[in-house]
Amino acid sequence: MTHAHISTWAVALILFVVAIALQKSGKAKGAKIVSMVLRLFYILIVATGVLLLWNINLTGDYIVKGLMGIVVIGLMEMISVRTRKGKSTTVLWVIFAAAFAYVLYLGFSLDMGMNFF
Ligand code: HEM
Repeated sequence: MTHAHISTWAVALILFVVAIALQKSGKAKGAKIVSMVLRLFYILIVATGVLLLWNINLTGDYIVKGLMGIVVIGLMEMISVRTRKGKSTTVLWVIFAAAFAYVLYLGFSLDMGMNFF
C-alpha cells in the first residue's frame, strides 16, 4: 500500500516540474493540461494517504505526516498558480523544499513501509 502512495507522489512531482517548465517556456496550453492531470494526482495522493491512515492507529505522528503532506500539495498548487501569473515564487520554493524534505523524513521514519531514517 505504501508503494501506491509513493508512486502517486512521485508521478505528481514529475508532473509538477513538467507543468512549471512548460509554463516558463511559454507553452501555456500544455502547462494547463499537465496542471489538470496534476490535480488528479493530488486527489490520489490524499486518497492513498488516507487509506494508509485507515490501516493504523491514528496517533500524533501519522496525523502530522498527513497534514504536512497536504501542506506540500498546497505549496505545489501555489507555486503553479503564481508561476502562471508571473509572480515571484522564490520564497515558496524554499518553503516547499523544506516541507517536502520533512514529509519524506516523516514518511520514511514512521513504522509502515520503508524506514530509511
Ligand atoms: C506530496 C505529498 C506527500 C509525500 C511526498 C508523501 C511521502 C510519503 C513517504 C515517503 C512515505 C513513506 C512510505 C514508506 O515508508 O514506504 C509516506 C507514508 C505515509 N503517508 Fe505520505 N506523502 C504525502 C502526502 C500524504 C497525505 C496527504 C497523507 C494523508 C492524508 C499521507 C499519509 C501517509 C501515511 C499515513 C503514511 C504511512 C506512514 C508510515 O510510513 O508509517 N501522505 N508518505
